[in-house]
Amino acid sequence: MPEQTSLAQQFPAGFVWGVATSAYQIEGAANEGGRAPSIWDTFSHTPGKILDHSSGDVACDHYHRYAEDVEHISNLGLDAYRFSVSWSRVQPDGSGVWNEEGMAFYARLISALAKKNISAHMTLYHWDLPQALQEQGGWLNRDTADHFARYAQEMAARFGDQLASIATHNEPWCTANLGYGNGQFAPGVKDEVAALQVSHHLLLSHGLAIQAMRRQNKKAKLGIVLNQWTADPATESESDCAAAAWEYARSVQWFMDPIFRGHYPALALAKIDQSRFVVAPGDLEAIHQPLDFLGVNYYFRAYVSTETPPRLPEAKLGLSDMGWEIYPEGLSRLLIGIHEEYKDLGLPPIYITENGMAVADQLDGEQIHDSPRIDYMQRHFHEVAKAIAAGVNIKGFFYWSLLDNFEWNSGYLRRFGLIYVDYVSQRRIWKDSAIWFKGFVQKFRGLVA
Ligand code: FCB
Repeated sequence: MPEQTSLAQQFPAGFVWGVATSAYQIEGAANEGGRAPSIWDTFSHTPGKILDHSSGDVACDHYHRYAEDVEHISNLGLDAYRFSVSWSRVQPDGSGVWNEEGMAFYARLISALAKKNISAHMTLYHWDLPQALQEQGGWLNRDTADHFARYAQEMAARFGDQLASIATHNEPWCTANLGYGNGQFAPGVKDEVAALQVSHHLLLSHGLAIQAMRRQNKKAKLGIVLNQWTADPATESESDCAAAAWEYARSVQWFMDPIFRGHYPALALAKIDQSRFVVAPGDLEAIHQPLDFLGVNYYFRAYVSTETPPRLPEAKLGLSDMGWEIYPEGLSRLLIGIHEEYKDLGLPPIYITENGMAVADQLDGEQIHDSPRIDYMQRHFHEVAKAIAAGVNIKGFFYWSLLDNFEWNSGYLRRFGLIYVDYVSQRRIWKDSAIWFKGFVQKFRGLVA
């Protein structure tokens, strides 16, 4: 690994360093301030869905402790904070009346960030659909896309001028394939064909929301956050290579092509069960909107093997506590790949909106020695720098996550934070990685030698 200073010097002036979180994973206060349940409240309270039988009822209690958390971001010396809005906190039924108490919470958060010169990057949908909309069919109901656009417009009207960016969706691949495909995430439906239709409605809702927000606020920087990976064939065999191409088409291009080309990838369309796949006239035009930025979340690659049992990657750098292969090189390859593929199709500047590592962190007195996380960050920063050197326009990097938090169906058993959370006392304790990141950003800014 290059040493810290030389790595920091590889990033262009003005590069944005930040941290990311999401509403359901940190806020808690599930029944306070007029908030109504979302599908994640329902799901986490359904026995057997969450590994440690927990929920986001309290989580990091960020709803009450946001000021302290903003202070931590400021003390880390970071430029930017990416957070999401709990839709059912600001519009309990997902349609109709706005909940002013919920809106006031986000207004307080945004003004606390502004006071510390931290730019605010808002995500509108990080998986927590108002339960009331789920009762009407959730993302399988096309009307949900219209409700989402109305909600987006309202948020842009109220906050657009104070935000550095607004993303419509976080990882629609997960909403569709984990929420509706394998049922691991809320709402827990297991129906691969339904998942396809959900992905279309998510994309449609994105396009409608972008149009509605643009009408509302001409200046706001608008985009979407996609989780992406390279799809590497395990061997050179024809079947592995074909399966890898298919995997890339149905995961990465499935979202990128409608957004940047105005159509679904032919390779994926040819193989999917289209029996219940409805694309209405005009939908693809609605989805194909110019964007100000693309958010890329990267954690691992897809390693594609058609053998039984499938070949597994060698995982030279090991696995994270999620069991995910640590494969930093995939990040630069992915970024260079999408740059090549979409640069003439209006690909906007990219932010790495999430990247981070779960480690089985242990408290050692008042310290957490998470050297694997520091190594992970360094290696991934290095790959981002490589992609920039290769000509990819990357504007910033958000580490996932500021705090340990409710890691969806893994509950509180997986820790991604730079800051350790003792869930009993709600004490926040900086890990070694937080201290390292602070030092790195200082070096980047030339504040210290
Ligand atoms: C991403 C999610 C985020 C977090 C990380 C570990 O897929 O967007 O909320 O759970 O994974």
